Amino acid sequence: MNISIAGTGYVGLVTGVCLAEVGYKITCFDIDENKVQLMKDGFSPIYEPGLSELMKKNSKQNRLFFTHEPKEAYKDADIIFIAVGTPEQKDGSANLQYVESVAKAIAENVVKDTIVVTKSTVPVGTNDRIKDIIEKHKKHDVKIRIASNPEFLREGTAIYDTFNGDRIVIGAEDPYVIEILEKLYAPLNIPIISTNIRSAEMIKYAANAFLATKISFINEIANICERVGADIGDVANGIGSDQRIGHQFLRAGIGYGGSCFPKDTKALAQLANHINYDFHLLKSVIEVNNDQRVLLYEKAKELYGSLKGKKVAVLGLAFKPNTDDIREAASLLLIDALKQDEAQIAVYDPIATRHIQHIYGDTLNYMEVPEDALAQADIAFIVTEWDEIKEIPFSTYKQLMKEPVILDGRNCHDIEEAKKEEVTYLSIGREPVY
Ligand code: UGA
Repeated sequence: MNISIAGTGYVGLVTGVCLAEVGYKITCFDIDENKVQLMKDGFSPIYEPGLSELMKKNSKQNRLFFTHEPKEAYKDADIIFIAVGTPEQKDGSANLQYVESVAKAIAENVVKDTIVVTKSTVPVGTNDRIKDIIEKHKKHDVKIRIASNPEFLREGTAIYDTFNGDRIVIGAEDPYVIEILEKLYAPLNIPIISTNIRSAEMIKYAANAFLATKISFINEIANICERVGADIGDVANGIGSDQRIGHQFLRAGIGYGGSCFPKDTKALAQLANHINYDFHLLKSVIEVNNDQRVLLYEKAKELYGSLKGKKVAVLGLAFKPNTDDIREAASLLLIDALKQDEAQIAVYDPIATRHIQHIYGDTLNYMEVPEDALAQADIAFIVTEWDEIKEIPFSTYKQLMKEPVILDGRNCHDIEEAKKEEVTYLSIGREPVY
């Protein structure tokens, strides 16, 4: 089977590399010639633990190829995965221009029967549109079958997730397509759920919206805990032990970020809007998250009134640990607010700093170690729970800062220890320590 993947972003590249590792011959297509050259030279354009190693190994074993020529990618393909981005538009809906242009390029280049499988997160009905575009523009009399096959990978653990997913969802109307895709994925030994195309498209949005709802829910419970003397860690553990609720995605903090939850929740709300359905719950989930992401800043304002001239350390910039992705990261909103207040800002992140530097230029101080950011600081903000940051002991804050004032957006430290060490320690949904 010849398999091609259109788009070498997060989903496309990880899928391509992992399917090559399974033993398939994979051609990854990207429109960006420089990026393709980089990958041909064995470098991954994205940071994902373990990805470069698998890329190099499979390229060497002649199972993994890269091209920027649509013809080379699509001509001999038995299966083509569409894995290009569907970025957010101004009104919150998904921008389908990249998906549509891939569909057109496929149509112009296929010369044999092909199954086109959409992995990109697309609104319900998009696969039908893809089929229409291909049928309209195809140059040869070939049979095009389509399927929706959403992905559930998390950044930072995407390779593990590919080989150990809870389920694979295949949406197709044609039993032949289901049969072929079941065969393709059989070596992964992951349960397959097959549905019609529209249900598969919906599953992706519903899954992300549900997880986002869990996060906003626990964040609101945390905000109440803080005001009534309860502890969110104990409460999350207490409710999560009920198997119907489960422990995962009950970590309170400064909201969800990244390239998926913020975009997909808005796109689903927008989709509901289009059909005149008022999705009250999801709209609240989004609102709660918007408020939660500025909570640390608000706590600092409460403490100090004005932050003008204050020396602050921002520890962690990525939207979560083990990635250099800063899309929709809480750090961005915090930095914007601190800059507005004319604070002096030093930032640290193990790998995401260069992306922040790209945005803020020389208006921030970029530190290579957290200790340099903390030196003589008035306030330390913990934004991302990297191990390197979690492991900084209170003694270091005490030693390096003017006064140890720590605002922890990810509940990295123990409250009792904070009391013992006599630091000012404000976290989320827990007793404040002054
Ligand atoms: C998410 C989903 O988990 C994947 O299943 C999905 O495939 C992916 O989006 C996507 O649509 O492509 P990802 O964005 O990589 O994956 O990251 P998560 O680990 O889910 O975290 C998302 C955000 O939620 C992060 O900002 C994280 O800090 C936050 N979060 C997560 C919490 O605040 N609390 C939690 O308990 C869990």
